[in-house]
Amino acid sequence: VRTRVAIIGAGPAGLLLAHLLDAAGIESIVVDARSREQIETTIRAGILEQGTVETLAETGASARVLAEGHRHDGIELRFDGAGYRIDFAGLVGRAVWLYPQHEVLRDLIAARLAAGQDLRFGVRAERVEDASGARPRVILTDADGQPLTIEADFVVGADGSRSVVREAVTGSSTGGYFREYPFAWFGILCEAPPSAPELIYSNSPDGFALISQRSESVQRMYFQCDPEVDAASFSEAELWDALQRRVPGTTLREGPIFQRDVLRFRSFVAHELRRGRAALVGDAAHTVPPTGAKGMNLAVADVRLLAPALQALLLEGDERLIDAFAETALERIWKAQHFSWWMTSLLHVAPGASEFDRRRQLGELRSVVGSAHGAAYLAEAYTGWPLAR
Ligand code: DHB
Repeated sequence: VRTRVAIIGAGPAGLLLAHLLDAAGIESIVVDARSREQIETTIRAGILEQGTVETLAETGASARVLAEGHRHDGIELRFDGAGYRIDFAGLVGRAVWLYPQHEVLRDLIAARLAAGQDLRFGVRAERVEDASGARPRVILTDADGQPLTIEADFVVGADGSRSVVREAVTGSSTGGYFREYPFAWFGILCEAPPSAPELIYSNSPDGFALISQRSESVQRMYFQCDPEVDAASFSEAELWDALQRRVPGTTLREGPIFQRDVLRFRSFVAHELRRGRAALVGDAAHTVPPTGAKGMNLAVADVRLLAPALQALLLEGDERLIDAFAETALERIWKAQHFSWWMTSLLHVAPGASEFDRRRQLGELRSVVGSAHGAAYLAEAYTGWPLAR
């Protein structure tokens, strides 16, 4: 089949790109190896930057984000037995929204299908050919196991951290700048009311915990754990004990735990984001550790740059924006990499940390919460830097 833009991956990046291209009159095909059900039910992060919310609402991608999402004007940083509020509204006049990523995906999939657009599930991309030529091709296997080729004017890899498009762009499926971390997050979903009005990010001698939310009756919580831990090996009582111990001074409201998972930590930026007529966006281009919830927001920021660049290239033959895409995108990507690394190192206890490391970390936390200047950096980065207009 032929199309103008072949988009590999029906996550936030791929689906939003298709939506923005359609609004500009550019046809695309989106494929994903997963099923619609899998995409719409996998639990991911839940915090949207103000600019992400504005993008979704203003482009008609999601009416529900404003109706059903919850605005949060701050977070609590907790350490040494006390909590300190970071007042986003007061510090930078911005906010974030709690609205789960799989709800964003449900909205984007519904919008795309309602517009009668080509979106295919269970279709696996194998490789990209001739990315540097004028008509690149994607070689795929369709839902019935039959070979399929999509010929396009441009190929976009929005296919996540194990991207198959990456090799065509960077020359290697793994090539990039990496950082590993010696810990992971144990995540749970439970049936309970919220324990606090806002999210709590807690640094404790036992390690990090994040008390997040999903709704009035469902809560999302995480605690720092060994990356090799077996999620099934904990009883519910052990999980509550692990969480409670990491938020000293707060009493969590407990309830049945109905889902658990272990999230690996990694920082990654691909060596290149674009080659010829192929580009990478979202996790295919970069991965951040979850602390600070930058993953989906960064994917949206990438797409906000790539959509107008493809519009100029494909409708007017103007290559200036696509030529500038990687450099412009990388500015924000490295700022978000730094912020995610910084939030992680600020709040977690590294295995083998010395008493010096511990006390230095508390000094760092006090320089954030004890100063409007320190707190404003966190507030600015967390709520999100301005997006391309
Ligand atoms: C959530 C995840 C994050 O990584 C974060 O920083 C805040 C919230 C969440 O899943 O709710």
